[in-house]
Order: sequence, then structure tokens, then C-alpha cells
Amino acid sequence: MTTILLVTSSPRGTEGLSTRFATEIAEGLKARSGGTITVRDLATNPLQHIAPAYINGRAIPSESRTPEQAEAVRLAEALVDELRHADTVVIGSSMINFGPSSLLKAWFDHIIWPGVTFGYGEDGPKGLLSNKKIYLVTATGGVFSAGDYAPFDFQTGYLRHLLGFIGLTDVELIRVEGTVFGPDAANAAIATTEAQVREVLERAA
Ligand SMILES: Cc1cc2nc3c(=O)[nH]c(=O)nc-3n(C[C@H](O)[C@H](O)[C@H](O)COP(=O)(O)O)c2cc1C
Repeated sequence: MTTILLVTSSPRGTEGLSTRFATEIAEGLKARSGGTITVRDLATNPLQHIAPAYINGRAIPSESRTPEQAEAVRLAEALVDELRHADTVVIGSSMINFGPSSLLKAWFDHIIWPGVTFGYGEDGPKGLLSNKKIYLVTATGGVFSAGDYAPFDFQTGYLRHLLGFIGLTDVELIRVEGTVFGPDAANAAIATTEAQVREVLERAA
């Protein structure tokens, strides 16, 4: 049985294409494996930006923390536990100003934690997580997989780097792209992603 963590982060609510396709993938995987889905909806329940209570709190023993520090660290620990217990992680990411939304960035800021999800070895930093399949769904108004705007995709490379930094290198990318060029282009883009999602789920079966 697979434990699936579904992380969604579209600031566009029910319109969010990254949320739509990430949810379809998580539910499709669950239907095939009989697993469970834990939803971390960062849009409905946004995380606060990291602050001194968290940064200072995580650097000292638990018994020395103020109540505010303890609360901030407990939240980050809960997020890391959710990630650690998942076999499969499906992440939906909207492109906002050429990168992931700050909603998703705040999640990474809580889970990338020295000594917990990465460490420093003799050869430099080393990710401390492993053995998870990641499906990364990115939704972008423009086209970034190829063409003039490809160099300005600060979303997929960045997210792959963050995941790899904590040891999660088995990342499959599903793009929804080119949705801002009118309804026909948007429908074609969505149909392309629908086909890709079907293919991903057939392979996972
Ligand atoms: C505030 C805002 C900023 C955006 N910035 C970009 C951008 O920099 N590049 C781009 O191609 N599309 C941009 N878009 C379009 C979104 O990437 C597109 O609507 C995408 O589908 C959003 O993901 P979602 O459907 O999961 O919400 C932006 C949209 C919004 C609302």
C-alpha cells in the first residue's frame, strides 16, 4: 500500500490547473495501489513565512525553547514527518512571476532543515531523504519547455534542485503550459496534459 502526500499550492483556488492535475495523479495512483492520500493544501492553509522563532528554535534543544519557538518547530517537524512517511509525493506548483508561488516556497523553507533533511558530509551537503517517487506538476501561462522563454523557467530547475538537495532525485515532471494564448490554446494545452497524466498513470499501474 502506497502512502501518497499531495502538496497543492495554487493561489487561483478552484481554477488552479496544477492543483487539478496533481489531484488527478494522486487519486489515480491511489485507485491503482489502494494507498492513502494526505493532502497538504498550502493555498487553503498557508504556512507563515519562517521567522526567528523557527530559525532560532530549531537550533536549540527542545527543553530550552520558548512556547513560541516550540510551536514553530513543532509545525516544521509535522511537515517533515508527513514528507518522510510518504512513498510518493505529488506536488502542484503554479508559476508566479517566473518561479513557484511563495506558498510553496514557504513549505520548502520549513522542510529543508540541516541535520534533519540534509546534512554536511565529507563531500559537501548530502540529502537525508530517499526512496520516494515525486510527481511535479507545474502550470505556467507561457511555454517554457522549449523556445524563447525556456531560459526564464526559474520554477522547474529550482524545484528539482530543492528536492535533490534533500535527497529526492526521482522526479517526474508534468507540465501544463501555454494557457494564456486564448481559449483554443488553453484547451489544447489542457488536452496535452490530460494525455500525459493518463500515460503516467498507465505506467504506474
Ligand atoms: C500573479 C500571477 C503571476 C503569474 N506569473 C506568470 C509568469 O511569470 N509566467 C507565466 O508564464 N505565467 C504566469 N502566470 C500565469 C500562471 O502561471 C498560470 O495561470 C498558471 O496556470 C497558474 O497555475 P495554476 O493554474 O496552478 O494556478 C501568473 C499568474 C498570476 C495569477
